[in-house]
Order: sequence, then C-alpha cells, then structure tokens
Amino acid sequence: MFYIYSMHFELTEEHLMIRQAARDFAQTELKPGVIERDEHQKFPAEQIKKLGELGFLGMMVSPEYGGSGMDAISYAIVMEELSKVDASASVVVSVNNSLVCYGLEKYGNEAQKQKYLKPLAQGQVIGAFCLSEPEAGSDATSQHTTAIDMGDHYLLNGTKNWITNGSTASTYIVMAQTDSSKKHRGINALIVEKGMEGFTVGNKENKLGIRGSDTHSLMFTDVKVPKENRIGEDGFGFKFAMATLEGGRIGIASQALGIASGAYELSVQYAKQRKAFNKTLADLQAIQFKLADMATEIEAARLLCYRAAWLKDNDQPYAQAASMAKLFASETAMRTTVEAVQIHGGYGFVKEYHVERLMRDAKITQIYEGTSEIQRIVISRGVLK
Ligand code: CAA
Repeated sequence: MFYIYSMHFELTEEHLMIRQAARDFAQTELKPGVIERDEHQKFPAEQIKKLGELGFLGMMVSPEYGGSGMDAISYAIVMEELSKVDASASVVVSVNNSLVCYGLEKYGNEAQKQKYLKPLAQGQVIGAFCLSEPEAGSDATSQHTTAIDMGDHYLLNGTKNWITNGSTASTYIVMAQTDSSKKHRGINALIVEKGMEGFTVGNKENKLGIRGSDTHSLMFTDVKVPKENRIGEDGFGFKFAMATLEGGRIGIASQALGIASGAYELSVQYAKQRKAFNKTLADLQAIQFKLADMATEIEAARLLCYRAAWLKDNDQPYAQAASMAKLFASETAMRTTVEAVQIHGGYGFVKEYHVERLMRDAKITQIYEGTSEIQRIVISRGVLK
C-alpha cells in the first residue's frame, strides 16, 4: 500500500511550546527520584497528579469533555520527552490518553462521557485497559473472562493479567466474552469501577523494567456491571480494543523513541567528557560511529511516529503506520540502549548513570500493546492486501 499525503517537516510554534513544557517537567519533576522509584517500585503518584493538572492525561480529548484538545503529534512529542527520563510515568500517560480516554470519546455514549471521560481527561482519576489474560496476550480474541447477559446487567467473571495502573486506576475498561458461539464478535467492552463488589486487585508484578509503573492482575467474581456501562453495540468489544490499540501503538512507539533518545543524549554528553587513551571518547571513531548510527535510527523512528500521528490527525487509516512506528522505534530503543550502556562502560552498568534503567525499560516496548511479531502481522496484512 502506498500513501499519498503532504507532510511538513517543521513543528508548529504550539508543538515547540508543548515540547519545552514536557522537557522542563521531565527534568524538574521526573528526574529527581527516578532511580529510587525504579529501585523500590514506587508509583510516581505526585508526578501523575501534576501531569493531570497540566492537561497531559487527556491531551487529545475535546475541551468539552475536560481535555486539552491537542493533536496526536503533540501527544507523540510529550511521550518522547517524558520517556527520555521516566518511562514508568509515561506509560501512565499513554494508557490514560490512548487506551482509555480516546476509546471513551470515540465510542462511548454521552452519559459515559459525562460520567467517566471528564474526570479521566481532567486527570482527577486514571484509567486502565484490561484485555490481556493468563492465556490471551497476543491471541486477544480468545477471551476467557465472561460477561453473561442478565437483562439489566452483565455478570462479570474472570482474571486479567499485566494490567497497567492495576491498583491506581479508578475506571477500568474490561473486555469479556458474552457469547462464545460468536467468537470475537461476542466480546463486549465494559466500564468497571473500582469498588464494585466482587472486583479485587491481585499482586503487583515485580518487573524487569518500568518498575515504577503499577502492574497487577485483576480478579472479577460475579461483578454486576450495569448494561449502560457497555461501550458500543453488543459484540463491539473486540473491534473497540483493536481500534483503540491502533492509537496506543503511536503512544508506545513514541515512548520507545523517548527511551532511545534519552539514552543517546546521555551517551553524547558522556562521550564528550570521558577521557581514555589521552582523548575524549568523542574523539574515537569507534564511539563516533556508534553515535552516528544511534542518531540516524532515532531520527527515522521519530519520522515514523510523527507520520502515524499525522495520519491519525488527518483521519486517514493509520493501523499499519502505527505498527511500523512501534516496531521500528521499539527495536531502535533496544539497540540504542544496549549501545549506550556499552559506551558508558562500567559506569553504564550502575544505576546512577541512568542508561541501565533505560535499557531495562526499552524491553517492554517490544512486548506491550502487541509484541514486535504482532506489529509484523498487522504490517504484512496491509502489504499483502
Ligand atoms: N480496528 C477495528 N477493527 C479491527 C481492527 C482495527 N484496527 N483490527 C482488527 N479488527 C477487526 C477485524 O475487522 C475483524 O472483524 P470481523 O471478523 O468482524 O471482520 C476482527 O477485528 C478480528 O480481526 P482479525 O481477524 O485480524 O483477528 P486476529 O485474531 O487475526 O488477531 C491480532 C489480530 C492483530 C493478532 C490481534 O489479536 C492483536 O492485535 N493482538 C495483540 C493484542 C495486544 O496488542 N494486546 C496488548 C494488551 S494492552 C496493553 O499492553 C496495554 C498496556 O498495559 C500498556
């Protein structure tokens, strides 16, 4: 498939201002304490509250529903800047914006928008997107969580795994099977509130990376979810999840871009200061070539992220573009952070220099919101259409 579009390579004044605001926030609010939060798996609660006050939790939601009314390029910019410093905080921003607010604004009804979207977009509460299960990660159609139609409500039973914002969210969008004979067309997306009887939050996962983020399993036992909490028509849940994940992949692609550019910037700085063989590292061609490769890949990843965001902003199909951005940016994040640790040598292996954390954080970008293999499936389907 070939895209025909005109694209400007310059950011607008507004984009530049947003980038500066996110950059300042990352340096002044996220950087202090980021190592400690990673070490102790501490959720960045105060920082998320402030991000909500700045309008970064409902960036693309219309002001009518409490959002900032920004475009998807602004969102990609903010995700990059925050992720340079703290990917545990930026994943909260991504899930709330893309998987929760976007889905509610696009597919929710007016009452759902008033009740659930507004506080989410204003950052008063945060949300979670609950698709993955112990036996349904990549194979998302095989949902074992059930939502039995009881007339005026659904009876929800099952377990969800690896849920970002698992214990800190107030509003959960849960995908569940209502009619298994209809396979994925029998899945519904339900809005579940924390505190509903029968809903319990399981253990927190002890993770390799993004350790400050709050990842839990969730259990539902005979939870009564009112019918009015179903998003869209009966059986729309799988399409809801897929359509929502398209935008989510722009967010995670931009997160991966930020992790890569954060590690690259630290490497450039280090290479200019550190002396070896009577020179700075920056004088050594072995290091110059590494930095050149990092810079090139990061620029390519950024263009793919902006392109996917631009297509979304212009109401053009963007599923493949988002998957290309996520695939390439996440692989760039992995390669770049491994090289950043190598450039830093022994210092790269200790926590104070930040690059080992960025390397651990990079790995999840190849896994969540669809593994690299899932992105290749989405891309190749478009290619072979
Ligand atoms: N928008 C709307 N509908 C879509 C769609 C989209 N982007 N993609 C697919 N669909 C529809 C199809 O049209 C089809 O509908 P019909 O049968 O009615 O025509 C239906 O969905 C099924 O589609 P497929 O046949 O393509 O389904 P599949 O079983 O082959 O799977 C898949 C497709 C791409 C592998 C998909 O299962 C997938 O994306 N899996 C990965 C799931 C994932 O990303 N999970 C992440 C969890 S969330 C997370 O990580 C959040 C976090 O914490 C950060």
